[in-house]
Amino acid sequence: MTAYEIIARKRDGKHLSEEEIEFFISQYMENNIRDYQMAAFLMAVYFRGMSEEEIFALTRAYLESGEVIDLSSIPGVKVDKHSTGGVGDKVSIVLAPLAASLGVKVPMISGRGLGHTGGTLDKLESIPGFQVFGTLEQFKRQVAEIGVAMLGQTDTVVPADRQIYALRDVTATVESIPLITASIMSKKIAEGIDALVLDVKFGNGAFMQEVAKAEELAHQLIKVGNAFGKKVTAYLTSMEQPLGNKVGNWLEIAECLDCLHGGGPEDLLEVILTLTGEMVFLAGQAARLEEARQMCREALQDGRAFRKFLEMVEYQGGDVKSVQEPEHYPVARYLETVVAEKSGVVTGFDTRQVGLAAVELGAGRLRKEDDVDPQAGIVLFKKIGDRVEKGEALCELHTNKPDSLPNATMRLLQAIRIGSDTPQPSPLILKRIQ
Ligand code: URA
Repeated sequence: MTAYEIIARKRDGKHLSEEEIEFFISQYMENNIRDYQMAAFLMAVYFRGMSEEEIFALTRAYLESGEVIDLSSIPGVKVDKHSTGGVGDKVSIVLAPLAASLGVKVPMISGRGLGHTGGTLDKLESIPGFQVFGTLEQFKRQVAEIGVAMLGQTDTVVPADRQIYALRDVTATVESIPLITASIMSKKIAEGIDALVLDVKFGNGAFMQEVAKAEELAHQLIKVGNAFGKKVTAYLTSMEQPLGNKVGNWLEIAECLDCLHGGGPEDLLEVILTLTGEMVFLAGQAARLEEARQMCREALQDGRAFRKFLEMVEYQGGDVKSVQEPEHYPVARYLETVVAEKSGVVTGFDTRQVGLAAVELGAGRLRKEDDVDPQAGIVLFKKIGDRVEKGEALCELHTNKPDSLPNATMRLLQAIRIGSDTPQPSPLILKRIQ
């Protein structure tokens, strides 16, 4: 068996055996297969796809490249949530402490911003002092003691994905269902969870823009999760416009605090209640989904979720005062209002452009080595269906890089579409899949 033969077989659309896939990944991790060979293999998979058995074998090979966390000594059902990524998607930051406040154990390993989408780790790090890196022992201890931990991927958890993901990012091979499935599910299975809720985004701000593709991905993720003995439920949710009204690291934490105090924008709250309700239900803390959702609503309103959030912030070294008194958090030096050039109704968003504008303002990375600016981002005043008058504020840009303002303004004027017909918005939550 050689790397060349395996690449050629996939190029020609042949079925790869479990041994061939295991060989390819393990030899790559030992540096016997080079990046250029892996890149050719990834492109062959991108075009030829993979069967269910091949995807399962790829996920297993990824998993075997590193450590699987054993949380079996911790009592309770361990449930996590994973989103395929979006703009303004800050759901995890409310959901994790909310689920934990209702008795679910939440061992969450999150990622950084990718492309036009934001990352949970970058958002959490905008809380002064908040540590997102620790050892697996610390991670386990925190889940055992307070029921929730939100950390970054360590070097020992699925190292094959870390390396291959970086290669996919620069070889245009991210948007492949087999590759996304192995990447996501290996990391989630390695966390030691019992069950998983997936938020599979569709729409122009998602990686899988078409509903049919998002649905195919959801089914594939569920099949692999089930094959590894995990209970998995997926929701297809809309990324036709940013979620909530704020995009950017601290701005999104501030919006999460509104939710944790029982408020927050309606669309964001709806996704939080749906996904957290599902976690509570999968953990067996409620007999019915509707009951689980009501429990979530109450825990947001009576302060239990916020108290759990404070406990987590304190445990991970964050400045508790900053989230208790967010009004004292410093605001970016440059604020600019973008105003409508005509009157009408907001008919739609180019959500990817909103994400890219936020990156440009400093909220994300233009190069891998860049730091993100916690204060940078966008506050939206209008969403789909809202009436707007010429000269009225559409959004406010926050930045410490004044040079970025003209371009970001232009992107937003193009991204927020104003027309005359009130649009028929696509459903925020399209489907529950099991
Ligand atoms: N998120 C991941 O973790 N992996 C992918 O391949 C895509 C999104």
